[in-house]
Amino acid sequence: MSLVIRGARVVVGDGTVLPRADVHMKDDRIVTVGAHTPVSSDTVIEAFGRVLMPGFIDAHTHALWAGNRLDEYEQVQRGVAYLDILEAGGGILATVRAVRDMSEARLAENLRRRLSVMLEGGTTTVEVKSGYGLTTEHELKMLRAIRRAAQEFAGTVIPTALLGHTLEAGRPGLVDEVIDETLPAVHAEFPGIAVDAFCEKGAWSLADCRRLFEKARSLGHVIRVHTDQFTRLGGLDLALELGAMSVDHLEASTLDDLKKLAHSRTFGVMLPATGFHTDRRYANGRAFLDAGGKLALASNCNPGSAPTSSIPFVVALAIRHLGITNQEAIQAVTSSAAELLGLTDRGRVAEGYRADLVVLRHSDERQLGYEFGGNPVDVVVAGGKVVA
Ligand code: NIG
Repeated sequence: MSLVIRGARVVVGDGTVLPRADVHMKDDRIVTVGAHTPVSSDTVIEAFGRVLMPGFIDAHTHALWAGNRLDEYEQVQRGVAYLDILEAGGGILATVRAVRDMSEARLAENLRRRLSVMLEGGTTTVEVKSGYGLTTEHELKMLRAIRRAAQEFAGTVIPTALLGHTLEAGRPGLVDEVIDETLPAVHAEFPGIAVDAFCEKGAWSLADCRRLFEKARSLGHVIRVHTDQFTRLGGLDLALELGAMSVDHLEASTLDDLKKLAHSRTFGVMLPATGFHTDRRYANGRAFLDAGGKLALASNCNPGSAPTSSIPFVVALAIRHLGITNQEAIQAVTSSAAELLGLTDRGRVAEGYRADLVVLRHSDERQLGYEFGGNPVDVVVAGGKVVA
């Protein structure tokens, strides 16, 4: 099975651009990228100068959920704070109740539908977290539903076990249960999966995150941390001490925090759709990149703080609110996001890389962040096949 896309403006994903080139794919790989050479191929697509770039890699989502939080959003619009809604038993906990009530098969179907919207929007690799179960039974149910939906997805799903998402009234033993029971059960069925926690007032304390992460690390899991979203509890320092893959959010981080992070090997993940939807607070992407940080941008797709899975919209927000350029944003949703997820075979349009590509309707890649509100993706190729 071979495919050629001819006459494209190729945005490689690493900051370079080939003004006019053909991309030849065979099976799930890119075979050549370069000047026009007549090759025989099963399928030929003429790009007519449109932008061809790597498929988007969304490295932070909570895309598996049940129910909705529409009533709660009316409270948000009246100025009620996200953490106050959580403290009153809503927010993440409302979604926990809905997820517990839904079967694994229906959850998988929900996710499948969202994944197909993502694919239409150019996302070919997506990380999906658990975290709305809070018990061993329901966290495993979520991870199995993610695995099930992934099997029917033309792109790639990377699951994450978000075991420390929040606490629950009436369950004083929740943290011990997660560490002593849920983590070993997840380890047995999903060895090596990344383990995540939300280090925040009203969610997991620094001390409890440390206990969870130390045990997860001893079992061979990599670590990701939701930290500094509202409150600096020290999650960033803990992440650096433990060599986490990423710290995610960073809206409340100081310049010194961002510099410290930038001088480490840990990625910073910024999620501008969250500030757009909730409280207009954004992480300082400019300061982080200027200090040499490794940045990924992601949708944070979830029913509470970021009900979107559009990476083009995230790019548009990032160039307006994080102070970064269109080119920096493109890298943060392609090659850098791939590196964060440990996927060395994708995120660039180059020979030998996985044939996950998009063709935009634009002929200038700056249009990606300039426009917003529509879908700029004309063609999606995943694993060498045209899928949208
Ligand atoms: O990254 N902050 C914690 N978790 C998500 C929100 C999840 C939800 O509100 O359902 C986030 O913003």
